[in-house]
Amino acid sequence: MTLRLSARAEFKPGQFMNLGLHLPTGFVSRSYSLASTPGEPLEVLLARVGEGALTPALFELQPGASVTLDDKPQGFFTFDYVPPHRELWLLATGTGLGPFLSMLRSGAAFGRAERVVLVHGTRGAAELAHRDELQRLAAERGASFRYLPTLSQETDPSLAHGRLTTLLSSGALEALAQTSLSPDSAHVMLCGNPQMIDDVIALLAARGMKRHRQRVPGHITTEKYW
Ligand SMILES: Cc1cc2nc3c(=O)[nH]c(=O)nc-3n(C[C@H](O)[C@H](O)[C@H](O)COP(=O)(O)OP(=O)(O)OC[C@H]3O[C@@H](n4cnc5c(N)ncnc54)[C@H](O)[C@@H]3O)c2cc1C
Ligand SMILES: NC(=O)c1ccc[n+]([C@@H]2O[C@H](COP(=O)([O-])OP(=O)(O)OC[C@H]3O[C@@H](n4cnc5c(N)ncnc54)[C@H](OP(=O)(O)O)[C@@H]3O)[C@@H](O)[C@H]2O)c1
Repeated sequence: MTLRLSARAEFKPGQFMNLGLHLPTGFVSRSYSLASTPGEPLEVLLARVGEGALTPALFELQPGASVTLDDKPQGFFTFDYVPPHRELWLLATGTGLGPFLSMLRSGAAFGRAERVVLVHGTRGAAELAHRDELQRLAAERGASFRYLPTLSQETDPSLAHGRLTTLLSSGALEALAQTSLSPDSAHVMLCGNPQMIDDVIALLAARGMKRHRQRVPGHITTEKYW
């Protein structure tokens, strides 16, 4: 779900804030990527982790309830730490879409790239958050933005089926994006499930792509959620 707060903050798209609740067991706080445009009311995408300490309580909140928010946004998953590129590939699983929504909504993703490809991998269509909004943005942006939702556990004839790693290996993602994912032109940002991130890094290594570091330039930037 999308949690909408009345608070606003200035931040760089890709950053996160810590959000917490006073529960009977004590104060519990977790990190959440900001999905909104900087300066607008804050939004985060939330997955309910059944056995989780915080998210079941967040899902019980009623409109108007209060949460505790850190003073400052944090994090380095921003364009300040991304080298020049012509094509930007944004690969998310589940709520890993959050920071990319902020980058797309604010226009920051289009700052340097001629083309942006967003791949959102979820189990089912219900988790394809903000799908209508992203489809509208794709229609507005034409060839400069491709939105590729993929489902791993449901089939929908209008959507790609399989994990995004499988679709990357088979070449299906590049065919759908109508461009190749190449170290000569692309930077890849990965967000969400940590095993997905490790698996994609291994697949991209075979193409000669590696993690970007300030001192050793590369092609991949990551944000692991756990
Ligand atoms: C920098 C950063 C940004 C994050 N941004 C988001 C965000 O925007 N939205 C969000 O939902 N979560 C986000 N997370 C994860 C979030 O901080 C919590 O871990 C998550 O909400 C679970 O909290 P919990 O207390 O309910 O579960 P915990 O008791 O902390 O249980 C953690 C377990 O839940 C699972 N898990 C954690 N996060 C997710 C997830 N997003 N999807 C599926 N399974 C998960 C993992 O198995 C993990 O080991 C982020 C984490 C980091 C480090
Ligand atoms: N029990 C259930 O049926 C069920 C359903 C929904 C949510 N949940 C719970 O809800 C929470 C959030 O789950 P979520 O579905 O948003 O997050 P998730 O478990 O990270 O899955 C999101 C997407 O990432 C894919 N994925 C996982 N590992 C990958 C890898 N190594 N490489 C490429 N893709 C990978 C998943 O594919 P796969 O489907 O192939 O794993 C799925 O399409 C979790 O606590 C989960 O237990 C449970």
